Amino acid sequence: MIRSVVRGIGSALPRRIMRNADFEGIVETSDEWIAQRTGIRQRHIAGEGETTASLGEAAARAALDNAGLTPDDIDLIVVATSTPDNTFPATAVDIQNRLGMRHGFAFDLQAVCSGFVYAITTADLYIKGGLARRVLVIGAETFSRILDWTDRSTCVLFGDGAGALILEAEESEGRVSDRGIIASSLRSDGAHKDKLFVDGGPGTSGTVGHLRMEGREVFKHAVGMIADVIEDTYAKAAITSEDIDWFVPHQANKRIIDASAKKLGIAEGKVVTTVQLHGNTSAASVPLALSVAVADGRIQKGDLVLLEAMGGGFTWGAVLVRW
Ligand code: ACO
Repeated sequence: MIRSVVRGIGSALPRRIMRNADFEGIVETSDEWIAQRTGIRQRHIAGEGETTASLGEAAARAALDNAGLTPDDIDLIVVATSTPDNTFPATAVDIQNRLGMRHGFAFDLQAVCSGFVYAITTADLYIKGGLARRVLVIGAETFSRILDWTDRSTCVLFGDGAGALILEAEESEGRVSDRGIIASSLRSDGAHKDKLFVDGGPGTSGTVGHLRMEGREVFKHAVGMIADVIEDTYAKAAITSEDIDWFVPHQANKRIIDASAKKLGIAEGKVVTTVQLHGNTSAASVPLALSVAVADGRIQKGDLVLLEAMGGGFTWGAVLVRW
């Protein structure tokens, strides 16, 4: 059988770092409130000339370097984003052009914070279906541009950035011990669409709109949904939390991450947490966290890595990959 194996990884962050204390003249808040409730200490904010496509391009180039590949080796680009630079064309074709790629195909995928987990699963199916041999999967966001900077309950939570992964087709025996994507599980439920949304768009207001969230409602559902989809993924692979080497969750809130790991019985030392550095970067958060844990040597070839995300929609999902 064919498995989609990780060939390279890269990331990119805007130059400007905004620390919690920097909000203290903008809205009524404090470093202590933000850190205690969310675990966030700082986030990167895109400046002039930094866009979703420019960050995505930089992450893609880093992943290509890491893999020892060039854009000529890529067949498909999938970009997970909820903050495209334009309503259309897709940010993915902009990145394709920036990379000088004159072949293959590229498209965006929108599943808010679950975008990267949806995008890897999609890329995996294109590879298994024989439509692509190597896929560049990118999560890239500039959430700072859809925040209401007068709303303290949301503007302190998000940040900008991008991460990229290259998946490659490889012949495999299909065992859990073999490298590549082993199992995925995706869910959505539009009944929750008003709990986390953007109050504008081309089909309604004709404006871009701002992010709105009922934080407490999101929190209430998050841990149960995350645990369900992970249990489902475990069942597909016939494994338990004991078998996992690294848990790389969506980085929205340290309390959600800790509560999910506890509910699933995943040891604290296996949890990769970067929310303190990046805030919630939506579709970029999982590949950014992966990049940190690969760069510092925690995640090694052959490790069993569990990815998870939950976000607007609601959407949620998990992916199990042998690195
Ligand atoms: N600074 C100071 N006070 C604040 C701030 C702030 N930045 N924001 C809200 N408050 C106040 C509120 O006004 C409220 O005051 P009140 O009691 O006088 O009315 C008080 O703090 C408590 O507000 P809550 O919303 O109940 O605070 P809570 O403990 O629920 O924490 C938070 C809020 C951090 C947003 C939490 O609900 C949360 O993390 N929810 C999940 C959000 C999330 O993870 N979203 C992303 C997931 S999906 C995705 O990634 C797109």
